[in-house]
Amino acid sequence: MGFKIAVAGATGNVGREMLDILDERGFPADEVVALASRRSQGTEVSFGDRTLKVQALENYDFSDTDICLMSAGGTVSKEWSPRIGAKGCVVIDNSSAWRYDADVPLIVPEVNADAITGFTRKNIIANPNCSTAQLVVALKPLHDHARIKRVVVSTYQSVSGGGKDAMEELFNQTRAIFVNDPIEPDKFTKRIAFNVIPHIDSFMEDGYTKEEWKVLAETKKMLDPAIKVTCTAVRVPVFIGHSESINLEFENEITADEARNILREAPGCLVIDKQEDGGYITPYESAGEDATYISRIREDATVENGLNLWVVSDNLRKGAALNTVQIAEVLVNRGLITPKKAAA
Ligand SMILES: NC(=O)c1ccc[n+]([C@@H]2O[C@H](COP(=O)([O-])OP(=O)(O)OC[C@H]3O[C@@H](n4cnc5c(N)ncnc54)[C@H](OP(=O)(O)O)[C@@H]3O)[C@@H](O)[C@H]2O)c1
Repeated sequence: MGFKIAVAGATGNVGREMLDILDERGFPADEVVALASRRSQGTEVSFGDRTLKVQALENYDFSDTDICLMSAGGTVSKEWSPRIGAKGCVVIDNSSAWRYDADVPLIVPEVNADAITGFTRKNIIANPNCSTAQLVVALKPLHDHARIKRVVVSTYQSVSGGGKDAMEELFNQTRAIFVNDPIEPDKFTKRIAFNVIPHIDSFMEDGYTKEEWKVLAETKKMLDPAIKVTCTAVRVPVFIGHSESINLEFENEITADEARNILREAPGCLVIDKQEDGGYITPYESAGEDATYISRIREDATVENGLNLWVVSDNLRKGAALNTVQIAEVLVNRGLITPKKAAA
């Protein structure tokens, strides 16, 4: 007997990807339910070769649902996740609402799957920020080998990280430039077409943005609180795929060749690193793929035991929907939940 799964935010960028990935990976679900806001009630979304009628989250009874994959934003999650969890349905949330709560595990299965057991405290598991997910997948095997002391990361984040409205804004602005229409930024603070914006999420008192803070807080929670992390997060006019330029300083010696070999064997990583024209991965090529791609592995001679990397991944997949489904698979494969229907 399989599980009953609800996807909340099913009409959004991440929700639609979740439905595709549940189908692609043959997740053991007997029933999948699509939920969104009242605005979308009655509309349809695809699930494999079927279509699902969207129901309103606020009217849905979670009593017989086993897992809710939640991607409806932080405000909705803050209100609904505790209520859903109280009904015995495990919420795997994509927003930042629960990531820093000591009673909520923050999980990337390749990095800290064992921490998942703490989910029973609130019946909520958090999925990291898209930039952190691909960062820690690449960092974990290197940290295990030579202990990372310090990380300096600059992100080049695609507009899909801002949701479907942000993708539309890039599309409409690009079109407007070609037909000489006026450009009015809406979701972004400045023009995004043919431009880059060094600002994602709100500013904090210390001058960093919340997006930059998330990367350091989440890396420490999942990988090691002793690692020092600093980040500059930048939005770029790419539809899908986040890129990161990463500078690492290690406690112990590690060469570029060693790093390349370690990453070649590491779960979730794919090394594409030929020092020739096109011998690296760009975000466009990562779209629709599951891997975290690592290119441009070089030694940094300006510090002791330093390395530089270029890391790219599909932010809607490993950065969000894929990681969420992988967390659900850990719950199922480790026998941490059983279908409610079986118990009835
Ligand atoms: N995009 C990424 O790379 C990424 C990565 C990691 C995490 N996340 C997080 O995932 C979440 C969703 O992101 P997204 O990119 O998919 O956004 P999106 O494309 O804007 O979709 C938002 C979804 O939430 C639903 N929703 C909004 N208000 C709701 C309400 N009151 N009740 C129920 N459903 C409601 C929307 O339904 P309607 O269509 O009915 O409005 C839609 O399905 C956010 O928390 C985001 O921070 C995104």
